Amino acid sequence: MTPSVSVILPTYNESENLPIAADRISRSLSGFNHEIIVVDDDSPDHTWEIAENLQEKIPQLRVIRRLTGKGLSSAVLTGMGAAEGEVFVVMDSDLQHDEKILPEMIRSFYERDVDLCLGTRYAKGGSTGKWSWIRIGISRFANFLAKRLLGIPVSDPMSGYFGIKRSVYSETVNEINPRGFKILLEFLGRSKEDLKIEEIPYTFQTRVHGKTKLNNSVIKNFFLAVLDIRFGKWISPTFLLYSIVGATGVVVNLLGFLLGEALDFPELTTGFAILDPVSISVLFGIELSIVSNFLLNNYFTFYERRYSEWKLPLGFLLFQSVSIFGILVQVLSFHFIYQSLLSEMTGINAFTLKFTSDILSIVIAMFSNYFLNSNVTWSRRQEGNF
Ligand code: GDD
Ligand code: MN
Repeated sequence: MTPSVSVILPTYNESENLPIAADRISRSLSGFNHEIIVVDDDSPDHTWEIAENLQEKIPQLRVIRRLTGKGLSSAVLTGMGAAEGEVFVVMDSDLQHDEKILPEMIRSFYERDVDLCLGTRYAKGGSTGKWSWIRIGISRFANFLAKRLLGIPVSDPMSGYFGIKRSVYSETVNEINPRGFKILLEFLGRSKEDLKIEEIPYTFQTRVHGKTKLNNSVIKNFFLAVLDIRFGKWISPTFLLYSIVGATGVVVNLLGFLLGEALDFPELTTGFAILDPVSISVLFGIELSIVSNFLLNNYFTFYERRYSEWKLPLGFLLFQSVSIFGILVQVLSFHFIYQSLLSEMTGINAFTLKFTSDILSIVIAMFSNYFLNSNVTWSRRQEGNF
């Protein structure tokens, strides 16, 4: 008999958790015709082997050991591709997702005909359990963005615990970007129809065995996905992240300047009449923003290609050079645009022409900087090279 419910359990180094989780899940689903699919990415702790040994006790358990590819979302898609049920449920295998709400989740499909049902930590009756304030902050901000920018009508779009109808999966799967953890967001954000959704509150448990695999890359990929789903048709989401970092740089630049002024930084003479006198506060602001932009881009925008340890100064040197080159590009294009506007446009006052030239030269420098930083400073060769 083909199963009607497929529970997908992605695992990576969960050898201690999986036997307990599989046992709890199969008990909780004893009233349903179901299968449990473990998708393991060749865990160094041999979770896949432990899963295979569990099959004797839990015959409805299947194991996929992936030797190529890695990552939670892509493991979930692999599991869904192999699933036979009409309803797919995705769940963590580390005991943090409460299996007691499983029957209710499944009933929502058969009794109330929902398209998607998720376990939520952010509705009445649910909770995140014990979390650091920083994780709470990031999670709340991520939720806010998903709701505001994408108009996603759920309280916990980052939830890794949800059920989805096979038909919704089939309609959406080709659009999905399987990077990171945000598989639910992808289904919600990219599905073409309005889905009938239900939410079931639960308390996120504290991890007992093993470690979380959530890192900066996962967080970055979440933001990237929000930008991609919302603006991806028009503009590269990485460029948008880079621009957001650039905008924070403007603020840092200003703060640096104000600090320099407050500390009474002196002025400098270079001997070039057009430059003098150079205010050290201005230079300080610029340099501070170059440093902060480098760090933010290194640990956020280009996280997968980042420099670390002894390579960090090398990356910074490249970034610094690109920034100085950018100034040159801007000054030259300003000059060129201003001169040609001046000779072409008569009757427009000089300030308007200058201002227009400045805006255009900033845009040109921004693109040339982005081009150099994404192809040279953080080139693809860097990927995974840390
Ligand atoms: N196959 C596979 N490959 N499984 C993975 C991988 C991977 O690369 N990375 C993580 N997993 C599995 C883990 O073994 C665990 O069962 C589950 O995915 C969740 O990973 P955790 O590392 O425990 O994530 P978390 O608890 O910090 O994050 C939870 O909250 C996030 C939102 O705040 C999860 O529920 C996420 O799904 C959720 O997005
Ligand atoms: Mn977890």
